Amino acid sequence: MQNIHISDLKDYVREEVTLRGWLFNKRSSGKIRFVILRDGTGYVQCVYFKPNVPEDAFEAADRLGQESSIEVTGIVKAEPRAPGGYELDARDLKVIHETHDYPITPKEHGIEFLLDHRHLWLRSKKQVAIMKVRHRIVKAIRDFFDNKGFTLLDTPILTPNAVEGTSTLFETEYFDLGKAYLTQSGQLYAEAGALALGKVYTFGPTFRAEKSKTRRHLTEFWMVEPEVAFADLNDDMDLAEEFLEYVVQTVLKDREEELKILERDISKLAQVKRPLPRISYDEAVEILKKNGVDFQWGEDFGGADETVISNQFEKPVMVHRYPAEVKAFYMKRDPENPKLALAVDVLAPEGYGEIIGGSEREDDLNVLLKRIEEHKLPQEAFEWYLDLRRYGSVPHAGFGLGLERTVSWICGLDHLREAIPFPRMIYRNTP
Ligand code: 4AD
Ligand code: MG
Repeated sequence: MQNIHISDLKDYVREEVTLRGWLFNKRSSGKIRFVILRDGTGYVQCVYFKPNVPEDAFEAADRLGQESSIEVTGIVKAEPRAPGGYELDARDLKVIHETHDYPITPKEHGIEFLLDHRHLWLRSKKQVAIMKVRHRIVKAIRDFFDNKGFTLLDTPILTPNAVEGTSTLFETEYFDLGKAYLTQSGQLYAEAGALALGKVYTFGPTFRAEKSKTRRHLTEFWMVEPEVAFADLNDDMDLAEEFLEYVVQTVLKDREEELKILERDISKLAQVKRPLPRISYDEAVEILKKNGVDFQWGEDFGGADETVISNQFEKPVMVHRYPAEVKAFYMKRDPENPKLALAVDVLAPEGYGEIIGGSEREDDLNVLLKRIEEHKLPQEAFEWYLDLRRYGSVPHAGFGLGLERTVSWICGLDHLREAIPFPRMIYRNTP
């Protein structure tokens, strides 16, 4: 008798095996008890036929509550009609921990109740599927950059300065050294890395004290940020589209089962292949006006604007050259029109909005000094960053992809809160 996982059943047809997991669901019919077992790798129906099993096992199959932990033994049968294609002709059942009144039942629950029970909600079929897709996305991200010769550079979370504006900083006291801030982005450090290693990426949690309560904002989210020396805005866009194609196509190939559980219509995702459409901010504004949106040149796009723009395209669209005023201090200006920043945002289709933000970086010391002053940032905190422009400055560019926005888009979720195991939002920091 062997302990195996549900995902291995295909290798044990007609053999007796033991599986350990949790009672997901059960039903009965005459002399038969059906127990659906889950073990994190899958689901399998175990059929308890009274004459074949010990009395206490049959009785337990009747009595146990949802999420009781159990060990089941039985003979593996190929069963094309069963989800997953296999069934267990059960011979025994051992109780590891009996439970009753599990709070999350197959009936509908309100979102606040589910979020309060997130530590248990994670066991639900849909949540398990989302976490598996998330994991595959993370691995695809790492594989993509690793295979292209990028070096992973982990950047600090406690930092002395802002990156993406001062209005969303989480602040903390740092011993005798004054204030420290939770990082909004690892980019500035990634730039130092790019000048040391050529091509780097940083991938970790980032923080924004977002006061907005939207389905696209978390206060703690994960971001991957590649940074490349000797790259301009076009190189940056080339990298972004190759990257997106790789991530989406890999997940479609490797997580078909999970996307089916999530009832994701994958026809749009299948189209995420190079080239992706590229339009300028000016052209995006034209699209808004043509669609009757009252929009002033110079503003940043809101969520609703992004949806109108991206609805014009089947694939993610890259919008480049934004008004510098609405973008971060470190972005290089367009030499053809200094009102514009050499920035790019990638907007996902189906109303998912901005998933990537990137740019070419200002590489001239004096211009950068001026920007720091214009943005009223404390120059002292940026001296180390300015050194990158004092010693062997080169053109360089990079971008940041929000992991949860990507998970949400690929899984077809309506809110970012299900795209991360334990979401942090303006009104929630538990469990
Ligand atoms: O556009 P953002 O602010 O760009 C940066 O942070 C740059 N430093 C990146 C770079 O060039 N290295 O953020 C990048 C992405 C967004 O496109 C979005 O996907 C995600 O991070 N993001 C958020 N995701 C969830 N909740 C939030 N509050 C987010 N803010 C940004
Ligand atoms: Mg952005």
